[in-house]
Amino acid sequence: MGKKRIGLLGCGAMGTRIARAIDSGEVDGVLERVHDAEPEKARALAGSLARRPTVVENHHLLSSGPGVDLVVEAASQDAVRSAALSVIQNRKDMVVMSVGALLDEPVYEVLADACAQFGRTIYLPSGAVAGLDALRAVRGELESVTLTTTKHPRSLAGAPGLAGSGIDLGGAGGPTTVFEGDAAAAVRSFPANVNVAALLALAGAGAAATSVRIVADPAAERNSHRIDARGRFGEIAVEVRNVPDPGNPRTSRLAILSAIATLRGVCSGGGSVRVGT
Ligand SMILES: NC(=O)c1ccc[n+]([C@@H]2O[C@H](COP(=O)([O-])OP(=O)(O)OC[C@H]3O[C@@H](n4cnc5c(N)ncnc54)[C@H](O)[C@@H]3O)[C@@H](O)[C@H]2O)c1
Repeated sequence: MGKKRIGLLGCGAMGTRIARAIDSGEVDGVLERVHDAEPEKARALAGSLARRPTVVENHHLLSSGPGVDLVVEAASQDAVRSAALSVIQNRKDMVVMSVGALLDEPVYEVLADACAQFGRTIYLPSGAVAGLDALRAVRGELESVTLTTTKHPRSLAGAPGLAGSGIDLGGAGGPTTVFEGDAAAAVRSFPANVNVAALLALAGAGAAATSVRIVADPAAERNSHRIDARGRFGEIAVEVRNVPDPGNPRTSRLAILSAIATLRGVCSGGGSVRVGT
């Protein structure tokens, strides 16, 4: 079997790093097409690569026809809502990073049904968090799952949930809890920040049973996520302290590395030793 041919939706901080990982051979695939709502970003990225992909004008062209096997979304929840179904209907697999979109039940159900109907797979990398393997394993025994996310206020800037909170994005004041609620509400209020909440809900106990607390801390130099889960299996406590990506402080370096690791696995085919659940 030849190398997997990849279409990339979103050419921002994460998309750029993914494209470079494919271009350098770190991922054993070929980047065939790229698209971004801001076409100059897609053109600049394509022009910076050794093997130039085609810049396509809309997301339909990313997955249409036989030239692409897999589409990687690194754009936004809106992009998932408008593009994912056509990717699956075009009989391509998909890697989705804006996982928050899938906490909308109708969206999830339509995509899950389409995957079953067309025999395709949507991959959701572990992103900015660790421990999803264990949560998946114990999902039938979970009694509670709590996520506490702590970020510098500037990493939360622009979130609808911050509007009117009076939080100083410049960093004055002490740590402040800016959100407490379930994962579905967290994803609506902080759509670009808590994909982790969506991943925990999908891997574990569901959105309504996953509690989320978001803390804006001017002293925080890392984006940290602490997961506390308990149930008949015992207890799980996991904390990751992520370095923000210089290209987009809302995105953690680990999330980008996780996307690349997933792609490496998807592109590697069989004939290998696989570690982890
Ligand atoms: N799963 C995780 O753990 C995790 C972690 C970090 C980021 N993310 C998500 O990954 C996505 C990409 O992150 P990033 O840091 O690269 O963001 P970014 O803002 O740096 O780049 C996003 C790019 O996508 C483009 N875009 C947005 N909506 C689009 C649409 N509908 N169609 C076409 N292009 C569109 C933008 O123009 C931009 O160039 C975000 O949605 C982010 O929330 C997920």
